[in-house]
Amino acid sequence: MYEIYPRSFQDSNGDGIGDLNGITARLDYLKALGIDAVWMTPMFPSPQVDFGYDISDYESVDPQYGTMADFTRLVAEAKKRNVRILLDMVMNHTSDKHKWFIESASSRTNPKADWYVWNSGVPANSAGVTAYQKRFEHDGMVPPNNWVSGFGGSAWEWVPARKQFYYHEFYKQQPDLNWRNPAVEQAMFATIRFWLDRGVAGFRFDAVPTLFEDPQLRNETSTGGTNAQGDPNVSDEYTNNLPEVHDVMRRLRAMVGKYPGDRVLIGETYLPNVQELDKWYGGASHNELQLPMDMQVGFAKKLDAGLLRRHIAEAETEIHGSEPLFVFDNHDNPRSWNRYGDGVHDAAIARLIATVLLTTKDSALMYYGEEIGMVTSTPTRKEDVQDPIGRTGWPKEKGRDGERTPMQWTPGPQAGFSTNPHTWLPVAGDYKTVNVQTESGEQASLLDWHKQLIRMRRSDPALHTGTITMLDTSNPSVLSYTRKGDDGKSIVVSVNCTAAPQTVSLDGAGGSHVQTLLTDAPSLQRQATLSGIALPPYASWVARVE
Ligand code: NOJ
Repeated sequence: MYEIYPRSFQDSNGDGIGDLNGITARLDYLKALGIDAVWMTPMFPSPQVDFGYDISDYESVDPQYGTMADFTRLVAEAKKRNVRILLDMVMNHTSDKHKWFIESASSRTNPKADWYVWNSGVPANSAGVTAYQKRFEHDGMVPPNNWVSGFGGSAWEWVPARKQFYYHEFYKQQPDLNWRNPAVEQAMFATIRFWLDRGVAGFRFDAVPTLFEDPQLRNETSTGGTNAQGDPNVSDEYTNNLPEVHDVMRRLRAMVGKYPGDRVLIGETYLPNVQELDKWYGGASHNELQLPMDMQVGFAKKLDAGLLRRHIAEAETEIHGSEPLFVFDNHDNPRSWNRYGDGVHDAAIARLIATVLLTTKDSALMYYGEEIGMVTSTPTRKEDVQDPIGRTGWPKEKGRDGERTPMQWTPGPQAGFSTNPHTWLPVAGDYKTVNVQTESGEQASLLDWHKQLIRMRRSDPALHTGTITMLDTSNPSVLSYTRKGDDGKSIVVSVNCTAAPQTVSLDGAGGSHVQTLLTDAPSLQRQATLSGIALPPYASWVARVE
């Protein structure tokens, strides 16, 4: 699967902002890359405070991105190429400009009064009120507790018309829906059916672990110090991953399961461990999401063979036979190129990551530009920042613009992204060498590396459906594993996660006929045995063993 940030993929009408017709125009590229499905981040009407994650109408297309007819054409053209289209469904919150919220905020007695999380707060002089709460005083009242918005400031915002606060996990323009109200679930499920009826193959559910909050509104535990936005650090036990959410997931799965054509439910699930992840599949019952994202493997703090092995092994064995979904990049985190790169071996490290992503037993999710080695291009001046958290948090938090710059297609103007020199975010400075056109002509390019891996993954039974077994399991530097198909043929993968040369012997993998399929180490091209495999720094080696 391939994540597209529509603003940044391809501009078709010269306004400097990517759009749906731009995506349609690039479907042949996606097909040639070998992907099966596109997840588009939100393209619904939105004030764009959070670039689409603040939705003001769930059943339409934002004019910036096109029309409903453009959407229909995109789905149809994708279908011709066997590419499925997945949408991003934001159920935790709406925009404050959504008609539901406008109505809800208008009085305490309107029909939607209970659709969001409203609270009258507590008198500012009550016992236990902190100095932080007092910063948000209105009419003598302060927020009911110490909850902090993930995007800065109190999580509670005052509305004079109701003389009440509403809760917002993210920006104040993103009020949280009240999932304890059955009408909210009905309305949101109706929007999901609206898109299923229009042929979408499924959804990625945004921030889905945070649907529910503690009904008693208990204070989170203070963890000391302040964050990049200057707010006190607090835990999230009362606002994140509450057990009630699983009932919603089961009802969602049951509803979507009635649709023909293998629709898929993906979750944005940052969770503390594999036991929690397993619950999002429905454990042994397999009745919640098919693919909650595993964030342990791809978003570990560092590139470490032992850590990767442990997290991959856990995901492969401790989710009741469900399929892991691995991902190393998205629109919210600095690109893996920079997170894992050491500044010297970045290209080899990018190949290593692609190798792990595409040869383990998983569903693999890539982010646009990952396949060509796009880097994080963080703004250097506060006035250039688009992402609001980058302005309020500057300079400690510079926001997420760096990982959202325009896709680099050609060495020409605006990297082929747009005819308009004023693109919504600047094109990264390296586009003359890092772009699809240039890399398509280079045999050993990162783009070619991805294509080869995807081709192998599609055609080789061991990689496609085979079992996975970790090898050389106490090696702290090199990650090795074997994939074994029903036909008894195996693939062995070995990646050196250090800047020093490493030699491994993998005789346990069985088989005596060894043939290298893919490596970025010239010295391993002719490796014909499973012993004495000499891996240069960060090298990757994929071989067939019979
Ligand atoms: C997660 C999304 O990926 C992120 O971009 C967004 O800001 C928040 N959820 C809020 O919707």
